[in-house]
Formats: sequence, structure tokens, C-alpha cells
Amino acid sequence: MSRQKPIRKAVFPVAGLGTRFLPATKAIPKEMLPVIDRPLIQYAVDEAREAGIEQLIFVTGRGKTAIVEHFDMAFELETTMKERDKALKVLEPTRIQPGNLVAVRQQVPLGLGHAVWCARAIVGDEPFAIFLPDELMIGEPGCMKQMVEAYEQVGGNIISVLEVPEDEVSSYGVIAPGKREGALTEVKGLVEKPKRAEAPSNLIISGRYILQPEVMRVLESQEKGAGGEIQLTDAMAQMIGQQPFHAVTFAGRRFDCGSKTGFIEATLALALERPDLADDVRAIARRLLAE
Ligand code: UTP
Repeated sequence: MSRQKPIRKAVFPVAGLGTRFLPATKAIPKEMLPVIDRPLIQYAVDEAREAGIEQLIFVTGRGKTAIVEHFDMAFELETTMKERDKALKVLEPTRIQPGNLVAVRQQVPLGLGHAVWCARAIVGDEPFAIFLPDELMIGEPGCMKQMVEAYEQVGGNIISVLEVPEDEVSSYGVIAPGKREGALTEVKGLVEKPKRAEAPSNLIISGRYILQPEVMRVLESQEKGAGGEIQLTDAMAQMIGQQPFHAVTFAGRRFDCGSKTGFIEATLALALERPDLADDVRAIARRLLAE
């Protein structure tokens, strides 16, 4: 038995504007763009449930209701499919226990830190997970499960990190690493989008977090940071030294589906691994590359 309080709740901040995907994201949220046949949000929710998370808290904004609809019961669709003898298994991952899906609104997109803070009343006084669904994490076990396993050993705050080439660090949140033990690294500091020369490492924060509820109090009085937004990284940085803070190097692959090339890469990579698609997609890719 672990001494730690279990991670039962996850926050999905999905209130961003998704400007890099316009016009596709004018009327539908970025998180509903499908990689093959599952919307991005579904991959994140599947990963959360694999890690034992029960309650899903979506921080949404204007035009984001499709995300909540996706996890609602589709009565007409299901009845019609049943009448036509179509299997309903494909809809199974979209079923959430009644009461386990909560949506709160971030009225103005003031940044990721502010979006997380909008969930404070539902999170309450427990440690919780955060998922950025546009970062698609593929691994076995999934990224959050790897993090929960680490959390059970060390408790406190845990973030997922990945190594990137040094010339890419200035696009991300970067950690100052302390002692390392296997996949676990002590976090001594955090900086959001540092200049290359000032980056304390090439280990970037990658879209998955387990945080203690005290972060909400820090966010409450958080000033705007990089890009004029209330940054989660700045709030987390203030928790270092007060509570244990570790990074887990994710054993798996990350696709940045917030960018067009990352999205295309994810689609191709996953299609090439799907038994029902791989042969056809490989043949198509070969033909296109030969042209
Ligand atoms: P991004 O930096 O990817 O911003 O946000 P974005 O608005 O989604 O996309 P672009 O850059 O305009 O194309 C990272 C995560 O934080 C959420 C986003 O929904 C995404 O999951 N977010 C960001 C919020 O929920 N609220 C905000 O105010 C900002």
C-alpha cells in the first residue's frame, strides 16, 4: 500500500484558442481533431483512466462544448446503431460514469496557469493530475501511469520530462536537474521558454503533471509571466524547496499535436502501427515519396 493520497482527479485545460490550426479550429476545438479515428482528447482520457483516475475536470471556453458532448451518452446514435445491429464497442471509451465528468469555464484565456486555477473548487484539497491533450503521449504503460508509479514512491509533485536537442529548448518549460536515479530526477528549478544560452538543461516539461493542491494558492496571486500569460511553470517553480519535486523521464514517444507537423507525424506513426491500416498506409507513403 502506498502512503500517498491517491490521484483520483485530472484537470484537462482545453480553453486555449488553438490559433495554429485556424481555420480548422474556428468552430471546433483543437482537442476534437482526430488522429486517425480518435479525437486528441480521447487519447488523454484513455491515458488518465489507465492510470486509475476517476474524475475528469475539463476547463473549457467558448466553442468547446463538443468536447463535453463527446463523452456524453448519444442516445439517438446508440439506438440507431443497435437497430442496425452495429456493435457499440467502438463507443465504449467515450462512456464516463455519471458524475465523473465536470466542466468549468475559463472565461478569458489568460494562460495555462489560470486555466488550472479555474478548477480549484472541484480539485479541492487533494493532489491531482493535469493533462495537456495536444501533447500526445504514446507508451506502455502510458505516461501518467509511469508518473503515478513514481508518485507512489516519492509523493509530492511530479512532472513528465523529455530530452530535446539544445536548439529547441527556448520553446518549452525547462528543468534545472538535481540528483538522478533511473527515470527519476530531482527538480531544482523551472524556467519557461529560456534563451538557449540560459537554459539549465535540455529536459523539457511535457504536458503531464501531478501536483499538490497548494499550487492553487500560489496561482491565486500569480503575476503574468512569459507571453503576458499566467504561467503554470512559474507557480510550480515557487513550490520547489517547500515540497518534494521530481521529474520522470517518460519512456515512450511524444507528439506535439498542437503543431501541424507534429500532428501529421502522429497520424503517420500511429497508422503505421495499426494492423488494420499499416499495409495500405505504407504502400501509399512509398508511392508518394517516389513521385
Ligand atoms: P497552447 O500554448 O498550445 O495554446 O496551450 P492554444 O491556444 O491551445 O494553441 P495555439 O498556440 O493558439 O495554437 C497549451 C494548453 O493550455 C490550454 C490549451 O487549451 C492547451 O491545452 N490553455 C492555454 C488554456 O486552457 N487556457 C489558456 O488560457 C491557455
